[in-house]
Amino acid sequence: MTHFRIAGTGSCLPEKIITNNDLSEFLDTSDEWIKTRTGIERRHVLSDGESLLSIGKEACLRALKMADCDPAEVDMLICCTLMGDFISPSLSCMLSGALGLRQDCFTIDQNMGCCGFICGLRTADAFFMSGSVKKVLVVSSEAMSRLVDWTDRSNCVLFGDAAGAVLLEAADNAVDFDFNLAESHEHLHVKRAGDNCPYNSYNYGNEQIIHMNGQEVYKFAVIAIVDRIKSLLNKNNLSPDEIDTYLLHQANLRIINSSIQKFGQNPSKFPHTIEETGNTSSSTCAYLLDIQNRAGRFRRGDKVVLCAFGAGLASIAAYIEW
Ligand code: UT7
Repeated sequence: MTHFRIAGTGSCLPEKIITNNDLSEFLDTSDEWIKTRTGIERRHVLSDGESLLSIGKEACLRALKMADCDPAEVDMLICCTLMGDFISPSLSCMLSGALGLRQDCFTIDQNMGCCGFICGLRTADAFFMSGSVKKVLVVSSEAMSRLVDWTDRSNCVLFGDAAGAVLLEAADNAVDFDFNLAESHEHLHVKRAGDNCPYNSYNYGNEQIIHMNGQEVYKFAVIAIVDRIKSLLNKNNLSPDEIDTYLLHQANLRIINSSIQKFGQNPSKFPHTIEETGNTSSSTCAYLLDIQNRAGRFRRGDKVVLCAFGAGLASIAAYIEW
């Protein structure tokens, strides 16, 4: 069966860096609280002159360059984002134009919250299996700084903005996924802005911000990671020891450390970037993948597992033979 190999990776962080101490200037918080409870030290946020399009484009260009792939060779662009710069056209449409992709290059925006990037890989894999594509760009570009409540210390300190991309090529590598949707929005959601349609009373007012019950999501996350990875490894007759690298969604260092313990693995198999970026929703796994790839971590044949969880409540794990 044809799946894909990762031929190139790229990422881009906005230039502006906000440290924990910067936040403590206008919030009742501290570097000590944020670091101990989450592992986060700083995050990047979009500022004037930057957009989801600009960081997404840069991440894609870097992935294309590493793969030595001309934009005209790309058959499909999957863009993972909670919300593009515009509601319409979609970010994938805008990125396609900005990158100079072919006019018949099919584009999709996929909103699966923090699971988005891995769900994007899953979508791409279906097209590779159908034999209809040879090269696919999957990019995550997220601006959590536009969705957090900057007056709420329990919320805005956790997130940041980032983009990460991969160029996938058709190949016979082993690739598999395990997905689960617990269907609940109570503990994690972003409402949409109200409208002024005279035929309904739909009006959330100025509430287009993240609502999260951190403790409930934490409990869901530690269980979901173990469930997804165990199920995926069982399906592929693999043991946790056989996996070379685990790339987990970067939401809280304590969640990552609990997974290390549960699988009884060496912490070096679970690299993290949460210190530098905070939680950048679907971009965390894409960014982490690029950083590790550029550091020369992956060798052909390596067994890599990615796993994310988030709004939905959805969770997904991917097994990719490098
Ligand atoms: O990608 C989406 C998925 N999201 C996640 O995975 C998030 C999962 N949840 C978490 O990571 C953690 O629950 C948080 C980091 C969000 C919160 O950590 P916690 O250890 O669960 O803290 P808490 O919510 O129980 O709050 C403990 C205390 C509270 O004060 P009291 O009631 O004990 O007096 C909070 O008001 O910490 C207080 N607090 C803060 N203090 C200083 C909450 N936020 C802050 C803050 N600075 N930024």
